[in-house]
Amino acid sequence: MEAEQMINDIADLIKAYLSGQGQNNFIQYKDPGELREILKLDDYNDGAGWPRIFTWIEKYLTYSVKTNHKGFVNRMWVGANLPSILGEMVAAVSNTSSCTYESAPVSTLMEKYMIRQMLDLVGFRNGEGQMTTGSSNANMLAMMAARNQSLPTVKTRGIFTQQDMIGFVSADAHYSMEKAANILGLGTDHLIKIPVNGLGEMDMNLLKENLEKAIEKGALPFFVAGTAGTTVRGAYDSIKDLVRLKKKFNFWLHIDGAWGGAVLVSEPLRKLYMDGIEQVDSLTWDFHKMLGTSLMCNIFMINNRPHTLGKVCSSDDESYLFHDSQNNKKNINEVHDLGAVSLQCGRRVDSLKWFLDWKYFGKKEFGRRVEQSLELCRYAEAIVKESDFLELVLPRNSFNICFRYKARESVANKLNLAIRDTLYHDGKSLVGYAYFEGKLFLRLLLAGSDLTCEDIDQYFLDFIETGNSLAQI
Ligand SMILES: Cc1ncc(COP(=O)(O)O)c(C=O)c1O
Repeated sequence: MEAEQMINDIADLIKAYLSGQGQNNFIQYKDPGELREILKLDDYNDGAGWPRIFTWIEKYLTYSVKTNHKGFVNRMWVGANLPSILGEMVAAVSNTSSCTYESAPVSTLMEKYMIRQMLDLVGFRNGEGQMTTGSSNANMLAMMAARNQSLPTVKTRGIFTQQDMIGFVSADAHYSMEKAANILGLGTDHLIKIPVNGLGEMDMNLLKENLEKAIEKGALPFFVAGTAGTTVRGAYDSIKDLVRLKKKFNFWLHIDGAWGGAVLVSEPLRKLYMDGIEQVDSLTWDFHKMLGTSLMCNIFMINNRPHTLGKVCSSDDESYLFHDSQNNKKNINEVHDLGAVSLQCGRRVDSLKWFLDWKYFGKKEFGRRVEQSLELCRYAEAIVKESDFLELVLPRNSFNICFRYKARESVANKLNLAIRDTLYHDGKSLVGYAYFEGKLFLRLLLAGSDLTCEDIDQYFLDFIETGNSLAQI
């Protein structure tokens, strides 16, 4: 049987790929022109046949980045957990949309089950939630829910002729907040970016001043988003301070825990970084980042407002698909067609992979991994601090290590970029970079669950060696 043969063949390729992931270089780097030649994208436009299809799959695997490799310290994700990879494969084979119970009965129940589990874990009472396409989308959903709650007529009348609405985020918040303000018609000028302190945390005095200023001007401060683990510096805005301000000013308080929300699986780290989270209005958390579930896998949760998603996301006539016209009045526990309370029509089955990961590892093992990641970050920080060749550009808050190779200021940016690019093209490592006050620095992210101190030693050894040789040119 053709399908059976192809599935056996692809299983062999995947096995070979997975067993070679940690070995050799993490990429066979080619320039875009060279890679285009190799891929022969224009060939066989009239039906390629299986041998060609498999050639493309092999090329894809050969020239892609091996995200399981120890040198992939670039982004907030690495090679995925095995249970979630299996879940992803099964979801592809069974190919359905998780919009209605009819078309996705198991996925629907798994999603509702996982939402319940996560609401309980976070401590949201009488809450609801939804698996979304990622935290960018979830941040927008949070802003939209806040907008619609503050202006109940906005859904029908739009924001025209309404009172000015102002949202607040920290200057280091993720860029998706600005996109959300644009998409929702609020305008990016109505999203005030509050400066951060020396640790990269939102300055609460300035937030308070800006809230007061907005009110004085006759505007409505409707939304404040704190970040739990900022993208570049890994800073955690003080949730307790934000909650205090929320009680005074009555805004919707959202927390973007896309990256740093992972500490919620560890009691000591939750206390250290996200104390008071059970008192906020909403939270987004990406499981595909620090916890290692296969991309994309996110949850957006709302606290203590059980009918919000239905009111915010449903539209009036969906009867061709969602046959229960009462969906917009129900909470997530009563709705069986999850698409009815979502912004999408078709919905990927993301619940299966998260369910399998959660059942396989559980809170305890995930907690151990996150705590171990933090230990490794402390270890890496100590290496940088003790090295004659390296320096921290910003203090470490949590999981992000912002460092560079020491050099004269006039050449430091160029040299650090060259070190990073050389290591990438040599297939040794890939690390992201950003700027602080004009200084380029590397942002080391150790999201891999099985990284060891030896891997980190090797990473810095390669970095310093490359730096030393490039500094002489
Ligand atoms: C703090 C923060 N929020 C939101 C996002 C966006 O998440 P997603 O890629 O799931 O849309 C990121 C991505 O890196 C992030 O770091």
